[in-house]
Amino acid sequence: MDSYVLGIIGCGAIGSDVARAADAMEDISTIYLYDIKPEKAEELSWHLTKSKVADFDTWLPHVDIVFEAASHEAVKQYAEKVIRAGKDLIIMSIGGLLDEELRQRLEDRARETRSKIYLPSGAVCGIDGLKAARTAEVDEVTLVTTKSPASLDKKLDRRTIIFEGSAGEAVKALPKNVNVAACLALAGIGFERTRVKVVADPVVKHNSHKVLAHGKFGRLRAEVENLPNPHNPSSSYLASLSAVATLRRAMEPIQIGA
Ligand SMILES: NC(=O)c1ccc[n+]([C@@H]2O[C@H](COP(=O)([O-])OP(=O)(O)OC[C@H]3O[C@@H](n4cnc5c(N)ncnc54)[C@H](O)[C@@H]3O)[C@@H](O)[C@H]2O)c1
Repeated sequence: MDSYVLGIIGCGAIGSDVARAADAMEDISTIYLYDIKPEKAEELSWHLTKSKVADFDTWLPHVDIVFEAASHEAVKQYAEKVIRAGKDLIIMSIGGLLDEELRQRLEDRARETRSKIYLPSGAVCGIDGLKAARTAEVDEVTLVTTKSPASLDKKLDRRTIIFEGSAGEAVKALPKNVNVAACLALAGIGFERTRVKVVADPVVKHNSHKVLAHGKFGRLRAEVENLPNPHNPSSSYLASLSAVATLRRAMEPIQIGA
C-alpha cells in the first residue's frame, strides 16, 4: 500500500488533534471528516490541507482506517459497519464496548474480515506490562485515580475516597472515568476483578492514574500525572497523544510493546 486514507468520526478535541497530526503524516493521502454537527467538521477542515468533509456512509468504502473520537453511542452506531466493510478501526470511546454482546460481535466480524480494532491506552500507563503479565496468572489489578475535588464536582478541604469498587461498578457510578477503567479491565483481568479507587484531593491540580498489579510475573506499578489537553481542559493531553501514536502503529511495520 502506497498511502493510507483515514476517516475520522467526531471532530472535537481528540479528533482534531489526530486530524492535525495525520495532516502532517506522509503515509496519509486523504482525511475524511464526519461529525454529527457538520459545522465542527467544516471548521476543522479549514485548518487541514488534505481533508474532505462528507457523510460517513459516503466515505466508508474509500478509507483504510477509521478513527472514532465521538461518543459511546457512535461506537454502537458505526463500529460494526466499519468492520463489516473490512476496514481497521481505532476506538477512543472505549466505554462503548462495555456491552459484551457488541464486543463479541465486533471481534467475530473482525476475525472474518481480518480487520483490526485498536483501543489506545489513552490517559493511563502500564497497559503494555499488564498485557504481557496476563499471559500467566495475574492476582490483582488496582487503578487509583486522583482528581481535584472541583473536577469531580465536589467541594472538599481534605483527601476523600469518592469511590471504591470493581471496574464494572466504577463505569456505572462514574461515567467520566469510564474509558480509563474500561481500557484497564479489557487489557487485564476483566471488569469484575479489576479494582478501582477514585480519590478527590484538594492538594492536586491535575488528574493522576496509578496502576498496581501483581501476579506470577512479579509486581507492576505505573503512575501518570496528566496535564489537560490545550484544546479541551476536561480531557487529558496524553489521551490525544496516545491516539496519534496508535494511528502511527496501525500503519507501521514494526510494532513495539506487548
Ligand atoms: N480512551 C481514553 O482514554 C479517552 C480519553 C478522553 C476521551 N475519550 C473519549 O473520546 C471521545 C472523544 O473525546 P473528546 O474529548 O474529543 O470529545 P469532544 O466532546 O471534544 O468531541 C466529540 C465530538 O464528536 C461529535 N459526536 C458526538 N456524537 C457523535 C456521533 N454519534 N456521530 C458523529 N459525531 C459525533 C461531537 O459533535 C463532537 O464534535 C469521547 O467519547 C470521550 O469519552 C477517551
